[in-house]
Amino acid sequence: MAKGFFISKTLGIVGILFAVAAICTIITLSVLYSEEKNNNKQRLEKPTSQIPDTEATPAATAPTTLDPSLAWNRYRLPKSLIPDHYTVKLRPNLTTDDRGLYIFWGESTVRFLCKEETDVIIIHSNKLNYTMKDGYHVSLKGVNGSQPPQIDSTELVTTTQYLVVHLQSKLVVGHHYEMESTFVGELADDLAGFYRSEYTEDGVNKVLATTQMEAPYARKSFPCFDEPGMKATFDITLIHPSDHIAISNMPVKSSVKQDDNWNITQFDTTPRMSTYLLAYIVCQFEAAEEQGRDVQIRIWARPQAIEAGHGQYALNITGPILDFFADHYNTPYPLPKSDQVGLPDFSAGAMENWGLVTYRENSLLFDELSSSISNKERVVTVIAHELAHQWFGNLVTVEWWNDLWLNEGFASYVEYLGADFAEPSWNLKDLIVLNDVHQVMAIDALASSHPLSTPEDEINTPAQISELFDTITYSKGASVLRMLSSFLTEDLFKTGLSSYLHTFSYNNTVYQNLWDHLQQAVDRQTAVQLPVSVQEIMDRWILQMGFPVLKLDTTTGVLSQQHFLLDPTSNVTRSSQFNYQWIVPISATKKEGGSYSGWLSGDESAVYDQLKVTNDNDWVLLNINMTGYYLVNYDDRNWKQLQNELQTNLASIPVINRAQIIHDGFNLARAQHIPTTLALENTLFLENEVEYMPWEAALSSLSYFQLMFDRSEVYGPMKNYLKRLVTPLFEHFKSLTNNWADRPPTLTEQYNEINAISTACSNGIVECGDLASNLFKQWMNDPSNNPIHPNLRSTIYCNAIARGGEEEWEFAWNQFLNATLVTEADKLRSGMACSKEVWILQRYLSYALDPTLIRKQDATSTIISICRNVIGQSLTWDFIRANWKKLFEDYGGGSFSFSSLIQGVTQRFSTEFELQQLEQFEQDNMDVGFGSGTRALEQALEKTRSNINWVNENKELVLVWFNEHSN
Ligand SMILES: *[C@@H]1O[C@H](CO)[C@@H](O)[C@H](O)[C@H]1NC(C)=O
Ligand SMILES: *[C@@H]1O[C@H](CO)[C@@H](O)[C@H](O)[C@H]1NC(C)=O
Ligand SMILES: *[C@@H]1O[C@H](CO)[C@@H](O)[C@H](O)[C@H]1NC(C)=O
Ligand SMILES: *[C@@H]1O[C@H](CO)[C@@H](O)[C@H](O)[C@H]1NC(C)=O
Ligand SMILES: [Zn+2]
Repeated sequence: MAKGFFISKTLGIVGILFAVAAICTIITLSVLYSEEKNNNKQRLEKPTSQIPDTEATPAATAPTTLDPSLAWNRYRLPKSLIPDHYTVKLRPNLTTDDRGLYIFWGESTVRFLCKEETDVIIIHSNKLNYTMKDGYHVSLKGVNGSQPPQIDSTELVTTTQYLVVHLQSKLVVGHHYEMESTFVGELADDLAGFYRSEYTEDGVNKVLATTQMEAPYARKSFPCFDEPGMKATFDITLIHPSDHIAISNMPVKSSVKQDDNWNITQFDTTPRMSTYLLAYIVCQFEAAEEQGRDVQIRIWARPQAIEAGHGQYALNITGPILDFFADHYNTPYPLPKSDQVGLPDFSAGAMENWGLVTYRENSLLFDELSSSISNKERVVTVIAHELAHQWFGNLVTVEWWNDLWLNEGFASYVEYLGADFAEPSWNLKDLIVLNDVHQVMAIDALASSHPLSTPEDEINTPAQISELFDTITYSKGASVLRMLSSFLTEDLFKTGLSSYLHTFSYNNTVYQNLWDHLQQAVDRQTAVQLPVSVQEIMDRWILQMGFPVLKLDTTTGVLSQQHFLLDPTSNVTRSSQFNYQWIVPISATKKEGGSYSGWLSGDESAVYDQLKVTNDNDWVLLNINMTGYYLVNYDDRNWKQLQNELQTNLASIPVINRAQIIHDGFNLARAQHIPTTLALENTLFLENEVEYMPWEAALSSLSYFQLMFDRSEVYGPMKNYLKRLVTPLFEHFKSLTNNWADRPPTLTEQYNEINAISTACSNGIVECGDLASNLFKQWMNDPSNNPIHPNLRSTIYCNAIARGGEEEWEFAWNQFLNATLVTEADKLRSGMACSKEVWILQRYLSYALDPTLIRKQDATSTIISICRNVIGQSLTWDFIRANWKKLFEDYGGGSFSFSSLIQGVTQRFSTEFELQQLEQFEQDNMDVGFGSGTRALEQALEKTRSNINWVNENKELVLVWFNEHSN
């Protein structure tokens, strides 16, 4: 292939980091774009491609002009016909036809039951061209000798994505019918439905066919009742080149030669399942495999990756994780085999297709030699997440997308349990606090947040479904389920869970079904007592947005709650039936010993004698291990005592709570519940802290200070303070690692080593800068022999390139072009954004929009990494303003994330002038529109206003404080 190199289209971890970072201000203080930590929050399963189905519709059939009294104009299927079995035969052609198109041919039969009398068949179909038979798109048969009605006419309704069959008379209730059709579709590279992916191997371009059905894309592959509640069984057959393999959800039943070049491969009938979980792949991959407990396990990838052993780690951990979940759910793995495939071209992070899970390569493959510890953590947590779905989600499925939060929140919680089982020494379970709880609180504390649960009738169109795949759904879902499991106890939670799974296997549920089964488990025992029912407690957490801040006065024992808003002046327009009061599980410990657990309900005036201190040196700590989804504030005296304890005897406060105190403090300060200086005082103990979680919480929180101040006179004193705090940490790791020669033993130590280096380098510890430059120089002198440990590459690349000039940058660029590993290319790609040379950054920006240099999928994250750099920020903003129309036209229908772009470029905005510019930008481009960035633009305006206020109120105080604490 002409390009002569291979870079995955993968958006990469970096992209995710930035997308999240932009919202949550989770960025380390250093100018470094570390991908080695905070790496896991790429949203799984959500395709980033926005298929412009409705946009492509001619104005004449725009939704507003549809007559909703006609069933085919409504997005939800009528309940009159229920499918029970499909036979689907597909033949993807992996060479182009004379129009230059890749196409697939298909033939499908669906058998369905008539439940209510109707004279119309409505079934989903999108972008399929049918072979007409007797003038109709389909033919109809009765089952068991019954006569079907005559077809009157057939039509395709593109807006609602239906194939509609009008009948001359009615279908009979209780009768089964079969509908058959033959069609062709395009095997496009749009990452949705049945699509194609390409990669280069030994200079040869390879084409493969694969699927992504979630959420509404199965209808792009064959006509189907494409709703999760419409479960059926499927017989899949693939006709494929004989030198390609074919895999699907079920094991191969038979494969025979059709002719010299083509095989017909039939798969076993699936269990009853939802269309969005179907998968089939035709490719030339190879597998690493082993026999698990009753399950055949295979890891598929490009032959070179398998030969190099990159599937081995996934293979090692899959068996244990499947066993863990089978035990956890008290239910055997439901299928005879488990295939997992790493795809060079994949839009979501991974997709839990039943028995055939698909991944981005970077989420499945692991290379001992050049992948970092966070690459490894990503693999184990993503695999655990997807395998958790094989029961929760696949075996038992929510009835409709409005309950997506239950499916995704659950998997996002138990992924930590499964991953912890596979890597017991990593303390992965603790990290949910940083990766999910803290991250989502930053969004859920805005007046623009939304409740976890959405009424069914508010989710109809593909666009509405797509919007549900957000951080609230995944991370708040995980946070509140963790809280539920914690106050019920894990054992009781498991008992209710297994009863839920047994009851609803192969069927569909609403979230209340889970509450019912948990309640039954509670009612059958006496050890755990709840103040009210599971449902009453949980309703407050899922039906109203946001979360409370608890305020404890330790001298009186008075405990109260209030809806926490990051911006206290913001106007909450969304009303809540619970008045933003929660039923809150409380846990506490005291310095003088003793722990307490209980409940706070909104309407009681609460005095807790157990939470009263007995003397002036005593303190109370609330929300132990941050299992509760809320913030905690105290009276001033208690804060001071906690700070005192941290500075003198930090081990007496659990490590998660050391992170919590920092996190909560900064958030309370942002919301003006406490002075900013109190939050800063909470960080003084870091001088003695070597643990990852408190450091990470501090660096994440302070990244906001960096964004607000790195163009002002506050930055110097702030750097001095950080230099003072980080110096002991830097020395600690220097000696622990034998002068940076070895890596520390545990995962969190390895992460904190990276924090130590990146913070030291960006805050002026010269020894650190020299370390980075020297290592990079060594590499430049011997390019085939990279001396930098994979863990440290992001930070070393960034700092060496920031200190270097053209030569360093060009070297990195060449290494990027030649990188064979996505993860390595990603590290270089983010490192190159650290240059301090305006002209280099400007050129890099233009590279980012040239798909022959940087894959389209990586464009957004590259641009965002450039604007993370204080020097690149204004360049990028100018660029985006000047080119919005073109960007929108070129990338509007693709995988370009306009929302993260807008978030990224506006994250430093904190002056009236910038606010004006942003308002002007909105006006100038009204006619072009902002697509997926519309909401982000509104949020950016809101955030800029609040940043302006924050800077006005805090700048002087913070400057004084940093000056006083610099040495
Ligand atoms: C695949 O496409 C090529 C090129 O259009 C064509 O010659 C060939 O017949 C097709 N094969 C099948 C099985 O459709
Ligand atoms: C389907 O038909 C449309 C309209 O004729 C055409 O543009 C498109 O290329 C066809 N698709 C395939 C896969 O043949
Ligand atoms: C194709 O079919 C033959 C039997 O006719 C079988 O031996 C072979 O394994 C099949 N190839 C593939 C890739 O499934
Ligand atoms: C996989 O497991 C084997 C056997 O325990 C071990 O030797 C090997 O290092 C593991 N591979 C990876 C990548 O973890
Ligand atoms: Zn998921």
